[in-house]
Amino acid sequence: MTAQLIDGNALAAQVRSEVAHRVTALKARGVQPHLAILLVGDNPASQVYVRSKVADSEQTGLQATLERLPADTTQAALLARIAALNADPAVHGILVQLPLPAHLDAQAVIEAIAPHKDVDGFHVASAGALMVGQSGFRPCTPYGCMKMLESIGYDLRGKHAVVIGRSNIVGKPMAMMLLAANATVTICHSATADLASHTRQADVIVAAVGKRHVLTAGMVKPGAVVIDVGMNRDDAGKLCGDVDFDRVKDVAGWITPVPGGVGPMTRAMLLVNTLEAAERASA
Ligand code: GUN
Repeated sequence: MTAQLIDGNALAAQVRSEVAHRVTALKARGVQPHLAILLVGDNPASQVYVRSKVADSEQTGLQATLERLPADTTQAALLARIAALNADPAVHGILVQLPLPAHLDAQAVIEAIAPHKDVDGFHVASAGALMVGQSGFRPCTPYGCMKMLESIGYDLRGKHAVVIGRSNIVGKPMAMMLLAANATVTICHSATADLASHTRQADVIVAAVGKRHVLTAGMVKPGAVVIDVGMNRDDAGKLCGDVDFDRVKDVAGWITPVPGGVGPMTRAMLLVNTLEAAERASA
């Protein structure tokens, strides 16, 4: 292994500790930061995710309320719950766990969340603010990736960053954040003709596809920083990312593991966003 590991668990613990200190300061002023989580239906993966979001919140002193709604909840009923949470001054952040059951319009649900409570950063107002360089909530996964780059003191100015994936949740906001940090950014996706020709030129690669071994050793420039957003299972059922870690680690300069890389940072940045929602509301 030549690459240095970017330890997401250690960095997330540091972020959580900073959040906990700021929560203590808010509480001293009589403000209890509060995240409301809505879970519709009983998707097993979603249940695991929301439980960990509640546990993380409570561990850092944030209040988290998990509201479970039945799988047959109507669009109107869900929008009414969001409207009530928007109007509740004791609630600072609102998170609707995705995916939603197929009969619900997820984009309309996200747009119903008040932008100042949109701690996922998925609202068009949040996406637009990121695009034009205004303050607003940043989606937690790319925000966590930027923190990881910051943690190794990496200066993105003039560097070539290649993002693989163009989702609204990761790829597109990731590209905007890298651009804001003065990187030259290429976005690759499923219709990219020759992925390796782009990644081989990259100083920084962010893989956010959701497919094993999208990035192999021959596709990486020696010394590059490799950030793996993927969360997949290998043939043995073991958690793995989008990067062929065992080989890429011998070429890259820095690399994030899966598990223990981006995942814990995504969770930590939700706490940061919720804390900041509460700080702004009480400023
Ligand atoms: N489902 C999987 N990841 C996420 C996330 O970051 N936020 C929400 N709301 N749902 C998700």
